[in-house]
Amino acid sequence: MTIKWGPELEIGIPVIDSQHARIVEYINIVDEVQHTHNQEQLLNVLNELVDYTLSHFAFEESLMEEAGYPFVKAHSKVHQLFIRRVEDFQTRAVAGEDITTELLTVLKTWLVNHIKRDDKDYSDLVKVNMHDAERRVKAQKGPWFKRLFA
Ligand SMILES: [Fe+2]
Repeated sequence: MTIKWGPELEIGIPVIDSQHARIVEYINIVDEVQHTHNQEQLLNVLNELVDYTLSHFAFEESLMEEAGYPFVKAHSKVHQLFIRRVEDFQTRAVAGEDITTELLTVLKTWLVNHIKRDDKDYSDLVKVNMHDAERRVKAQKGPWFKRLFA
């Protein structure tokens, strides 16, 4: 069964929400590949999923750091452990083991829980920080425009 993207998975930061939606798409592709039993296809999707998730995690961590989120270290650790877990699946799949069913259960439950619990936890602070940064940029634009066009 594929994951359906919906408002309950949104944390209210559009750039993060669209990255999460893309991860969900990858997981749903893994779900489809499960039925074809094509090992090569599975390994390709898994590689893409890991690549994309790594850059998403790095982005998320930079937003948390900028906002001064106090639990960024613990959150990063959770990200690292997840990647290591998926890499273990990759190793087993390369060795020829059929891991798709187990993998899908882990991917789906992990992502949904992580978004709803861990990511929701940083969202308010990051949102405020992003709005503040936006306001600072706009405030700077005032005198800059005046200097340029006076
Ligand atoms: Fe996260």
